[in-house]
Amino acid sequence: MSSASERREELKAVFHQSQGCVKCPQLAAGRTTVVFGSGHADADLMFVGEAPGANEDKQGVPFVGQAGRLLDTLLGEIGMTRGDVFVVNVLKCRPPGNRDPLPQEIDNCQDYLFRQLELIEPKVVCTLGNFATKLLRADPTGITRLHGRAEERLIGPRRVRLYPIYHPAAALYTPSMLEILRTDFHRLPALLALPAPE
Ligand code: URA
Repeated sequence: MSSASERREELKAVFHQSQGCVKCPQLAAGRTTVVFGSGHADADLMFVGEAPGANEDKQGVPFVGQAGRLLDTLLGEIGMTRGDVFVVNVLKCRPPGNRDPLPQEIDNCQDYLFRQLELIEPKVVCTLGNFATKLLRADPTGITRLHGRAEERLIGPRRVRLYPIYHPAAALYTPSMLEILRTDFHRLPALLALPAPE
């Protein structure tokens, strides 16, 4: 593909394009910001969540609420910060009342995510919960069966290591799920140390 600086410029262009998006009229009418994603534009590790909530919609940054604080804690435990990774969501706009993303909305929004994956070129894509996992695996198998198992997948033109884990919001109030999430999360450094999939 193109050089890192060309990819960074293109990522900025996609960001600007996303800011005026009206593909989902209900989401466009109700949002404060389009939450494109944030982090290191050349990150080896990318997290894909579900959709912005109220805090994210206000601040324009993904995972800034309670689930985000848990994500930051877990990143700290493996010696990383937000600045080392790139964090995005399946949907860039907040669904009203934080309802689940609709299939049509996922369809409308997915080009942004696939462009982000193509331009950031992460080695490991860590899907948080069901929506991101099902979309990127193009398969309805749920997170309960898949969490903690890395697999190589062709996403667009590149092979990546896909690593589904529980969504931090789901683990917030369920200690047993939090323990599983933590165990899975702590495997990330080992996955990042593997050679990139060919
Ligand atoms: N905040 C986000 O940005 N995404 C989620 O999936 C949940 C909370």
